[in-house]
Amino acid sequence: MTEGLIEPEKGQLTYNNYLKVDELIGLQNLQSDPPQHDETLFIIIHQAYELWFKQILHEVSAIIDFLKNDDLLAVFKSCRRVIRIQDLLIKQVDILETMTPNDFNHFRALLNPASGFQSAQFRVFEFQLGLKRRSYLRYHSNDPVATVALNEALDAPTLYDHVLACLDRLGLDIPREILERDISKPHAPSDDLARVFGSIYRNSEDNYHVYLLLELLLDIDQKLISWRWRHVSMVERIIGHTIGTGGSMGVDYLTSTLKKRCFPEIWSARKYVITDLSERPGSMGYSGSTDSELPRPSEPDS
Ligand code: HEM
Repeated sequence: MTEGLIEPEKGQLTYNNYLKVDELIGLQNLQSDPPQHDETLFIIIHQAYELWFKQILHEVSAIIDFLKNDDLLAVFKSCRRVIRIQDLLIKQVDILETMTPNDFNHFRALLNPASGFQSAQFRVFEFQLGLKRRSYLRYHSNDPVATVALNEALDAPTLYDHVLACLDRLGLDIPREILERDISKPHAPSDDLARVFGSIYRNSEDNYHVYLLLELLLDIDQKLISWRWRHVSMVERIIGHTIGTGGSMGVDYLTSTLKKRCFPEIWSARKYVITDLSERPGSMGYSGSTDSELPRPSEPDS
């Protein structure tokens, strides 16, 4: 069965030296002494995330180049790859949940004040997607490499800026004030833009490439929300409502980030497609309904 397999000669490229496997598997330096079994998992999982973050940033910069050339097919391909990676990142949380609160407690205090909150690549990804917050720079002040990367992302147009410029060139009626805005500031949600997207969604067959682009962007945004939700739920399961090693209110802080939206108008465009029952007097809608069996918006469906 192994006939024909090559026996490498000295100096030839091998799996090991190409991928620097020895260096890679030597990068797990535990803080605990005596070593705590689960700290190895904790380190490897974070390192795996950072490698995938690196690949995501690599894809985002490719997407931006493709957008500059109005090459939507290439944009679709890279967006799909980002989405697949995000699926994996969400799934990875399952592995970490095999660690019990007590397993984590054996080395948690040794991690203080380090936290995933300081992941510069995660923050660059957020900034590139439009979630720019200059105040986050101060949490990286002791890391010159991270500071440069974060400043670059803060001062550069976001993925969304490039998307909108591309759609403008393709003939969509993108509001001028958005195209000419100060790119160092966060994007201010625009109802005019949501109406433009609403018209795309109402006629998706006639604008299929634009529709597909918007849906892929929405996938990326939604997967990020799913990751946030999966992460906070895991955090609650392991540390409950205690303060994070980074010093935040832990679960409460993380829950507040669930509201973040990278592409607000792609979400709000839905209201220009779906009939709003509350705006139809005398209908079975929420505002005018006297039917006690219909759930009201504030009540959970049961
Ligand atoms: C036992 C496992 C984990 C616990 C208990 C945990 C806990 C926390 C807590 C409490 C925070 C809020 C900041 C703070 O006060 O520290 C946080 C933020 C964060 N964590 Fe985790 N985490 C865990 C695993 C991970 C993993 C595997 C990643 C993957 C990279 C990660 C990435 C992040 C990121 C990116 C933030 C910042 C989120 C934001 O600001 O929106 N965490 N984590």
